[in-house]
Amino acid sequence: MTAPVSADDRPIIRIEDWEALAEQTLPKGAFDYVHSGAGAEETLRKNERAFQQWDLLPKILTNVENVNLGINLLNRQLPTPLLLAPVGFQTVVHPEGELASARSAAGLGIPYITSTVSSFSLEDISAVMENVPRYFQLYWPNDEEVAASFVTRAEAAGYDAIVLTVDTALLGWREKDLQNRYFPMQTGAGTANFVTDPVFQQKYNPSGLLTQEELTAEIKKILLNQSLTWEKIAWLRQQTSLPILLKGIIHTEDGKKAVAYGADGIIVSNHGGRQLDGVRSSLNALPFISKEIQGEIPILFDSGIRRGPDILKAIALGADAVIIGRPYVYGLTLGQAGVTAVLTNLLHDLETSLALTGTASLSDIDGSLIARTGNSQ
Ligand code: FNR
Repeated sequence: MTAPVSADDRPIIRIEDWEALAEQTLPKGAFDYVHSGAGAEETLRKNERAFQQWDLLPKILTNVENVNLGINLLNRQLPTPLLLAPVGFQTVVHPEGELASARSAAGLGIPYITSTVSSFSLEDISAVMENVPRYFQLYWPNDEEVAASFVTRAEAAGYDAIVLTVDTALLGWREKDLQNRYFPMQTGAGTANFVTDPVFQQKYNPSGLLTQEELTAEIKKILLNQSLTWEKIAWLRQQTSLPILLKGIIHTEDGKKAVAYGADGIIVSNHGGRQLDGVRSSLNALPFISKEIQGEIPILFDSGIRRGPDILKAIALGADAVIIGRPYVYGLTLGQAGVTAVLTNLLHDLETSLALTGTASLSDIDGSLIARTGNSQ
């Protein structure tokens, strides 16, 4: 696969250039859907800026000839600390959507998290990811039978974990999407897991005759669940033997509760600034949470990672693994080759940056390598 080049025949390296390519290529509604955040986009901006508030403190003369990016997560050895975020509706970016992203991830041994609102069924996505860990992200539908069916299907299809998104009791106030009158499901994208679900079909479309518009309306009615509480984690636990990760934790108290309620891991995340605007940046939430629960359950991190040093900062502040969303989706504008180019560049940057901190092995990154800008070490 040849690396994508820009119109003037230069390789596309910078994530800003991938973003610009997506903006030039995609219809406005689709680009804004991917790019934007909730409200005034305060949290979206804070997520990226937070990385500038922390300084890396490299140590010299340490022999970094052999750099090792490997980690162990949920009892699997992984080649890098990177996972791909659940991002729904990917056919609005490229016709091969999630299949292209998952194939790219699989080619690099990177775990892929399939969204509930993916444009291909969770089974079809799993099928392109032989031997690579894959997680299923659950938006807990407002119908327990459908929720149970999704989880059962994910387990049967070979998924390794359930990622329960807990910051989406309802959809954030996304002004650009509202202004563009853009709701991606209306394009037909994002319905695959529902239309292939026997329980959903039997309950909501028994005649099989619903139009696309009617079907979308039925899905919208049950997609999210505003009445979810911590007690429900026990119910989910009974449905599956897979590890359960809670995605969307910012409050330190919630990190502690996740441990108390038996979660197998958490993802410190504010949904890439797409849910509650004004929320603390994910990076600045991380050290408070890791101080309380590090070593008890794995702490994953997302929201704002764009470059290799960002990953090092998150790990130095207590993350065991990191997840990216928008960067790979911008790459998806050019299909699988684009995703692979974004990931390969990011990993080269990470490898270079790790060596330059004077640490040969990622598992040796710790708090001594980072300080709040201006603070002593
Ligand atoms: C998302 N995200 C998301 N999260 C989730 O749990 N289920 C989903 O279906 C989606 N869909 C989705 C679509 C798009 C277009 C984006 C950009 C994001 C959130 C995602 O998993 C992740 O938390 C953020 O993208 C991380 O922030 P960055 O890396 O985009 O800054």
